[in-house]
Amino acid sequence: MAARTSSAARAHAEYLAELRDERTQPVRIVPGYRQTPGRNPAEPLIRRALTLTELTGPGQLERRLEVLGADIAGQGERRAIGQLMQLHVKVIDEDGAPLPGVVVEMWQANGAGRYIHPNDDDHAPVDPNFYGAARVLTDEHGAFELRTVKPGAYPVPESGGWWRPPHVHFSLFGRIWLSRLVTQMYFPGEPLNAQDRILNAVPDAEARERLVAHLVPPAGLSGKALVFEHQLVVRGRSAAPAQP
Ligand SMILES: [Fe+2]
Repeated sequence: MAARTSSAARAHAEYLAELRDERTQPVRIVPGYRQTPGRNPAEPLIRRALTLTELTGPGQLERRLEVLGADIAGQGERRAIGQLMQLHVKVIDEDGAPLPGVVVEMWQANGAGRYIHPNDDDHAPVDPNFYGAARVLTDEHGAFELRTVKPGAYPVPESGGWWRPPHVHFSLFGRIWLSRLVTQMYFPGEPLNAQDRILNAVPDAEARERLVAHLVPPAGLSGKALVFEHQLVVRGRSAAPAQP
């Protein structure tokens, strides 16, 4: 029985690999992005059979990774500086089915474009009320919400004037390792999107568009926060492009 399950899982993995369209994924070496040669293999990839562990794990990650509040904007005097923002995100698989129980980690710069990280320099101020990271779980509809502030743009050190557009980083752990996704979400109408070396490392324009959230029209909302909707597809031809 186990052997039959394993072989069915492997067949499914091969099916998923065939669905993958490399044009929807970033090129490995990005001109002007000096870290890419060190982060990517120089030789072509070799496809190997996936192991049973990769096809069935990780199990119950949510028990081992503590879920840390979906509200990182703070309240009152402890409210982070910036444009208050509500993110409504849905996680689905290659067939459009919602994925419940996905552990989602997010991190972002503060409203001035500064991370809480030793590698970030002092080009912009730290916001004492904003750490900029969260870990949440998708619900039975594959959805999660985050209350945060819109991140600022920031200059990339030693890059000759490259500024990253506002963006939010996401790392997803689905039910199996094939659902692992690390990506970024961008904002509509940002002029820096057109020149961002990471976003534009994805050759396919439609795939790049899938990385951009949609602003919900303000009509009918409380107006206290910008509301953005976004969808993350973890596998298949419509998978969200991987972004470092
Ligand atoms: Fe970033």
